[in-house]
Amino acid sequence: GALPRHQNTPRKTTYGLHPELVSGTGFMADRHHNRRVWLYRIRPSASHTPFEPAPHPTFRADWAPGEVDPNLAGWSALPAPEAPTDFIDGIATLGGQGSPALRRGFAIHLYAANRSMERRAFYDADGDLLIIPQDGSLTLQTELGVLDVGPGQIAIVPRGLKLAVHLASGFARGWIGEAYGRSFELPARGVVGSNGTSDPRHFRAPRAWFEDRVVPGYRLTAKLGNALHEARLDHSPFDVVAWHGEHAPYVYDLADFSPVGNTRFDHPDPSVHVVIGAPMDEAGADTLDFGFFPPRWDPSEHTFRPPFFHRNAVTELNGIISDPSLRAGGPFAPGVTFLTPSMTAHGVLARAVESHLRKTDAAADRPARIPDASAWFQLETMLPLSLTPWARSAAHRIDGWPHVWGAYREHFEAP
Ligand code: FE2
Repeated sequence: GALPRHQNTPRKTTYGLHPELVSGTGFMADRHHNRRVWLYRIRPSASHTPFEPAPHPTFRADWAPGEVDPNLAGWSALPAPEAPTDFIDGIATLGGQGSPALRRGFAIHLYAANRSMERRAFYDADGDLLIIPQDGSLTLQTELGVLDVGPGQIAIVPRGLKLAVHLASGFARGWIGEAYGRSFELPARGVVGSNGTSDPRHFRAPRAWFEDRVVPGYRLTAKLGNALHEARLDHSPFDVVAWHGEHAPYVYDLADFSPVGNTRFDHPDPSVHVVIGAPMDEAGADTLDFGFFPPRWDPSEHTFRPPFFHRNAVTELNGIISDPSLRAGGPFAPGVTFLTPSMTAHGVLARAVESHLRKTDAAADRPARIPDASAWFQLETMLPLSLTPWARSAAHRIDGWPHVWGAYREHFEAP
C-alpha cells in the first residue's frame, strides 16, 4: 500500500513517504528509451552536506585519449588488497575512451576488495555500471532493493542510483564496464527471431527493501565528470519503501543465455554471443557490448574450430571468469584480462593451431561440448581503448604478452 496507484505525487502519501523522481534519460526520450523511477522514501535524498572533492588513486579516467597502443596486452588476476579495502576503494581503471562530459565513451575498471562498504554508498552520475564478478559473490544493496550477484552472473546498475556493495566472503574480484552514453539494452536478434540468446524475462530487478536507520557520518561518494566527490548523511540512504519505473538495477544469470550457432560448418560472428550492449551510433557500432562465450556444443564439420585468425574493427577486451580445462602455468587463468586493439591481428595459441590441424578428420568433426564451468567474456567497443598510466605499469601486467601466442608455422605446399 506504500505505492500510490493513481498518481505519482499525492500531497499526502501512505505512511508519510516523500515521492522522489530519478530520471535516467532526457525527458523527451521516446517511450522505448525513456527511463525513470519514482521512489517513495522516508527522507528525501537532498538531505546531505555539500560535496567535497574525494580524489581516488586508481579509480580515475586519466588516460591520454591520443595514446592507443596497437600491441596485444594482458594482465594477471588483480591481487587481493593487503589493507582493508571496500568495493569503491578497490577499483582501478584499466582504460577507456571518450568523456562523460560529452556523453560518449566508456571505461573499463577492475576491482578487488576484502571488506564490505560500511556506512558508505556510491552513485555514478556519469554512466551505467556493468559488474562482472570473477571471484566472490556480492550483495548489491541498491536504493531499489537488494540483488545478489556472483561469478557466472552480471549486474547492471543504471546511472545515479545509490549502491553499497557487501561481500559474501572475505574477498571479491571482477570487472566493471562503465558506459557514458546510452544505457545497456538487449541486442536485436535479427534472423534468429523472437527466441534464443538473452531473454528479457531472465533479467531480475529487485523488490523494494528499506531500513530506517540513523547513521551519523554516513558517506555518500558520487562520481560526476570523472571525478569523485563525497558528502555526509546522518542516515542510511536505503530508505526507499516502494518504487515503480524502469530505471532499475538488474541481475542476469549467464546460465540463462541460450546460444545459437552454426550447425554444419564454419563459425558465426561473435555477435551471436552478445548478452547486452550499450548502443552508440549506427546499429552495431556500440559503446560497449558484453559478449559471453557460453557452455555449448560445437558440431561444425570440416571446419577449423578454434577461433580463426582475424582483425576486427572493434577493440576486444577479454576476461576469464573460470575454465576448468585451462593448462596450469599457461598464459590463461581465471581473472586474466587481455586486450586486442582495433585491427591488430590475432588468433589462438600457435600450439592450438597445430594440434587442431594434426587431428584426424573423424576426431576433428566429432561434436564437442564446451564444459559448463567454462566462462569467458568479451567487452567489445567501436572506440579505441587508451590505457591509464596505472594499467600501463601495473605490477600484474604480463610482460611480453604478444609473445605468449607462440610462433605460427607455415603449411603452404607449392602446387
Ligand atoms: Fe578476437
